[in-house]
Amino acid sequence: MVITKICCIGAGYVGGPTCSVIALKCPNIRVTVVDLSVERISQWNSDKLPIYEPGLDDVVKKCRNINLFFSNDIETAIDEAELIFISVNTPTKTFGNGRGRAADLKYVESAARMIAKVARSNKIVVEKSTVPVRAAESIMHILGANQKMDVKYEILSNPEFLAEGTAIDDLLNADRILIGGECTETGSNAIEELSWVYQHWIPKERILTTNTWSSELSKLAANAFLAQRISSINSLSAVCEATGADVTEVAKAVGLDSRIGSKFLQASIGFGGSCFQKDILNLVYICEGLNLPEVAAYWQQVIDMNEYQKMRFSQKIIECLFNTVSDKRITIFGFAFKKNTGDTRETPAITVCKTLLEEGAKLNIYDPKVDHQQILEDLTHPSVTDSPEYVRKAIDIFDNAYDAVKDTYAIVLCTEWDEFVELDYRAIYSKMMKPAYIFDGRKILKHKELQEIGFHVQTIGRKLNRTGLLRSWATQQ
Ligand code: NAD
Ligand code: UDX
Repeated sequence: MVITKICCIGAGYVGGPTCSVIALKCPNIRVTVVDLSVERISQWNSDKLPIYEPGLDDVVKKCRNINLFFSNDIETAIDEAELIFISVNTPTKTFGNGRGRAADLKYVESAARMIAKVARSNKIVVEKSTVPVRAAESIMHILGANQKMDVKYEILSNPEFLAEGTAIDDLLNADRILIGGECTETGSNAIEELSWVYQHWIPKERILTTNTWSSELSKLAANAFLAQRISSINSLSAVCEATGADVTEVAKAVGLDSRIGSKFLQASIGFGGSCFQKDILNLVYICEGLNLPEVAAYWQQVIDMNEYQKMRFSQKIIECLFNTVSDKRITIFGFAFKKNTGDTRETPAITVCKTLLEEGAKLNIYDPKVDHQQILEDLTHPSVTDSPEYVRKAIDIFDNAYDAVKDTYAIVLCTEWDEFVELDYRAIYSKMMKPAYIFDGRKILKHKELQEIGFHVQTIGRKLNRTGLLRSWATQQ
């Protein structure tokens, strides 16, 4: 089979960027990204794409309506394609068995059923969504049970490792491409076909092939390892604050060991994003199902430590503001779960805002890329408040940092956007109530300069006295 047409089911943070890059690098392949959402597809076909991702606009502009198409006509795209990516969402289940932990596979299942209904020729079906181990087997089962006489399917696992904010670079220069498949002749052929697509720009030696289950588990394992590093350094940030060690210095000293490496050792207010928590909860659930309670408890602790870190930071703000924030207006800098994305899924900013709102604070929120409506939806969600009207009155959302600080008692920095480092903090100080506080949840600001202006500064993983003054010269930036 020669791949000339690819269909991707799911035009989200993974399907959109991944297929844009495939279209860019494989000009002879026609790539169609389909979705149930009419709004999402019309945004992909407009000048304002539905997601913010550095470099994505350029890639889409180069390929759209040439060999890259966004469409709601799911059936035609499936029918025409030789290779189909399933790239739909797999959120944590919110009801029934496994609620709060297991991955909800209903979107994967509905995509598989749609393929079974429509397909009239052989298809390679590629599981790109992150799924529990043995999910490919379920997809095969659905396709097999609905098989038309002469249609044959091969199922591959090809998990995606891109991170938001760096997705285009991650896709163009992937550390590895992982393809899992059946150890049969037709399985090997399918692996070769998908591998050929990636070889348009990824060196062959970086394309790793495994059995299907290893591939599925490796995706959960990679996210669990990354999140575990963050929880490890965050746990030590609490020790630093209690002792006088500086977590930045500790991370540097530890990371210089080539066996450990320096990446993913940034202490923070906690990790967010749509993947880490969901995938670790899923891993924990799988381990419990396999009767491996010790393994489940081990990975659960990564999540528990993250919750602890988010709460610890929120409590520190209240404690420093004389144990009451009631009716105090506080500025929130950054709402996205990390810089260079407008995504707010599981963002630690929600925990911080929720805690402050529950204590009676009023919030001025500014994020360079998150839509105002998204912030409102997140903070009035039933999991955050049972009084959405109260929240609507207690928050104001701004289009720039300088307006957001007027008459506020403190700035709480939740996202590490570059622009926050270079703001005119002298001008900001003059607009704020005194004493003026800054809580730097990402350790990115110039703390000594801020103190010289008059701010009381608190951060993560560094011991400061109650008014936010540094203890010794050794801890100053
Ligand atoms: P997303 O919510 O942004 O996009 C999923 C899209 O699928 C939505 O637009 C939804 O409307 C569509 N969809 C759902 N069911 C459909 C169906 N039956 N037919 C057509 N469209 C359908 O999700 P995402 O962030 O792109 O994640 C997709 C998968 O990739 C998840 O399994 C996730 O865990 C995994 N993943 C995500 C990232 C990331 O950074 N976001 C990275 C790696 C892997
Ligand atoms: C993650 C994985 O990195 C990616 O490989 C996978 O495909 C999807 O999940 P993503 O969630 O988009 O990607 O972003 P990532 O850069 O991993 O950051 C996740 C969270 O951890 C963010 O809130 C980030 O601020 C935080 N983080 C990251 C830290 O707190 N410290 C660090 O050192 C690194």
